[in-house]
Amino acid sequence: MRVRNKYRKSTAFPCNVGSRCSISIVVWSLVGFLLMLQIYSLISHRNTVSGDVKLHMSRHPLVRELEQVEEENIQIPPPKGKRSPRAAKRRPKRTTTLVDEFLDENSQIRHVFFPDMKTAIDPLKDAGNDSFYYYPARIWLDTEGNPIQAHGGGMIYDERSSAYYWYGEYKDGPTYHAHKKGAARVDIIGVGCYSSKDLWTWKNEGIVLTAEELNETHDLHKSNVLERPKVIYNENTGKYVMWMHIDDANYTKAAVGIAVSDYPTGPFDYLGSQRPHGYESRDMTVFKDDDGVAYLIYSSEENSELHIGPLTKDYLDVKPDMRRILVGQHREAPALFKYRGTYYMITSGCTGWAPNEALAHAADSIMGPWETMGNPCIGGNKMFRLATFFAQSTFVIPLPGIPGSYIFMADRWNPADLSDSRYVWLPLIVGGPADRPFEFNFGFPLWPRVSIYWHRKWRLPSSWRVTK
Ligand code: GAL
Repeated sequence: MRVRNKYRKSTAFPCNVGSRCSISIVVWSLVGFLLMLQIYSLISHRNTVSGDVKLHMSRHPLVRELEQVEEENIQIPPPKGKRSPRAAKRRPKRTTTLVDEFLDENSQIRHVFFPDMKTAIDPLKDAGNDSFYYYPARIWLDTEGNPIQAHGGGMIYDERSSAYYWYGEYKDGPTYHAHKKGAARVDIIGVGCYSSKDLWTWKNEGIVLTAEELNETHDLHKSNVLERPKVIYNENTGKYVMWMHIDDANYTKAAVGIAVSDYPTGPFDYLGSQRPHGYESRDMTVFKDDDGVAYLIYSSEENSELHIGPLTKDYLDVKPDMRRILVGQHREAPALFKYRGTYYMITSGCTGWAPNEALAHAADSIMGPWETMGNPCIGGNKMFRLATFFAQSTFVIPLPGIPGSYIFMADRWNPADLSDSRYVWLPLIVGGPADRPFEFNFGFPLWPRVSIYWHRKWRLPSSWRVTK
């Protein structure tokens, strides 16, 4: 039985016992402080999600221009042909969305998503007023005047040659369906590599890992799938190591392939494939941390979750340690980066070649736990933001010298003609108020916002260009 203290006052105020009084004051002040914080976080949250477009003032003056919010107003054309009154009765008219238009090869606004050769970015010809401008989704020519073929790509900055190398799927072949219900595909040609000093003028370094023409049992046989190649440099061995998604035409092999070279421009020797940690692996990437430890991140368990684990010292294998992250969230196309000790990742949903909504995630430790922050896309229009500007993440390039600034690299896939898929490069900025305050954090924002800004045309700040 509980005995009531008959001398205890029913309220804390006024009090005459010094210690009890100060405890009450501390407790009430704390409650007040937490309430204020909660109100502040609600207000800032409302400001963030209010749909209004604002100029997010950045800490760094160089990136203010990149943070301008640009709107896109695209008119959806009226539906083609007349429907009979009977058909209209049977099936109520479905409103056409921009995504429907995007996926319709015969859409009247196809040129909006896939501008033709007349508007191609040609760094040799455009060396003038248009120099260094990125035009998302326009055809981008290399220094020989050919469209760049480096889809699902990744990038390294090579200290030894002071140059950037862009690796990606060389898809310059016919698109076809291996089976009626199979995904649209292009035979493996190999991994394309392009070099640049300014991230705008790209020289074709050739196909650095080539398909196998004859041996049908070889992973790289042209009838298979090679996607999302990523290269990292190993300081211990002096080798360039490539990891990639290896699959059969039906995407049932679900493995990673590993290749190695002494030079960034190859040729890369293919070492073989594996199911990392014994699990399926489809969309994947590798990330090299500041301490030289590299990690493999891959979609697994029918793409329902991601797995992450460190590579061995030579980067040629995975270590046994593995964590499941974003379990049940069905994410793919991971692109990782790090800022001020925090790890960030952009992922897409799983809808094949069709675009969907990107999400940003953050973690204090690369092995997790990872928190999902929300959709990082800003500007364009609602459909642009819900479809990642009609593109899918593949890599995030750090811009040294402008803290918190990156280039978001994405692919605008063209399922009808995969070789004509486009590149959507946009500025990605870390900073600003948290996206979504979590219930358990008492109003303290856990992570700064990750923002990807839509621009029809944009370029890197001039001071950055000069230093490169
Ligand atoms: C996507 C994936 C691409 C490719 C495609 C095939 O989900 O991100 O890399 O595998 O599916 O349909």
